Amino acid sequence: MATLINEGKAKQLFTTDDPNVIQVHYMNQATALNGKRKEHIDDKGEVNNQIDSLIFEYLNHLGIATHFIKRLSASDQLVKKMKMIPLEVVVRNYASGSFQRKFDTEYLQAFEQPVQEFYYKSDRLDDPFINDSQIHALKIATPEQLSIMRDQVFKINQALIKLFAASGITLVDFKVEFGFDADNNLILGDEISPDSCRLVDATTHESLDKDVFRKHTGDVMDGYRTVLSRLEATAK
Ligand code: C5P
Repeated sequence: MATLINEGKAKQLFTTDDPNVIQVHYMNQATALNGKRKEHIDDKGEVNNQIDSLIFEYLNHLGIATHFIKRLSASDQLVKKMKMIPLEVVVRNYASGSFQRKFDTEYLQAFEQPVQEFYYKSDRLDDPFINDSQIHALKIATPEQLSIMRDQVFKINQALIKLFAASGITLVDFKVEFGFDADNNLILGDEISPDSCRLVDATTHESLDKDVFRKHTGDVMDGYRTVLSRLEATAK
């Protein structure tokens, strides 16, 4: 019998017969303002599970170590059980969101080199920005582990830029999370979807991600469905 282990903002985690494997159920739910705003959204779980599965299969295929095992059904997938590091690793190729607000830059100003930032995962503290020496002081990760995460995240960025560009989509920025598998390997976990990436149409710059929900600018599922159908068409 599958038992619910944890319920996050958009996913539920269940046990499986294998103690090292977890079943992830993508819910039809979107949140903003760190969970303070929560809404039911038809089909979101299925669409995000399919986008995430397609992206993680692509990364696994490129030899990037991830938790992803396989997609089980429309809204569910199997992943390796992980001990997560409480850091959000953000990469930015163009200015948007908190970077744009913090430094008052132009929207979508291009960076010569990708920008990388760490945030400490804590709902109570609103996920504050954290630097390397603060991470070491709090014993969240070692310098070697930070260096592995930086290397991996830049490889993931290059891979995702290419994947999305082939679908006429520009990867503005994204967030990923890492953890340790049962053999203590530091690997990519969590999810990559329009909930955790900023994606814009390469020509029109129309938002195809959660910003539409955050800013109330339309039906968020239009963009998510566009991302899925374009990725599927390119994968064929
Ligand atoms: O808000 P900000 O500009 O810092 O977000 C950078 C990227 O990280 C965006 O793609 C956003 O969707 C993602 N993010 C996330 N979860 C958070 C914070 C940011 O997926 N808690």
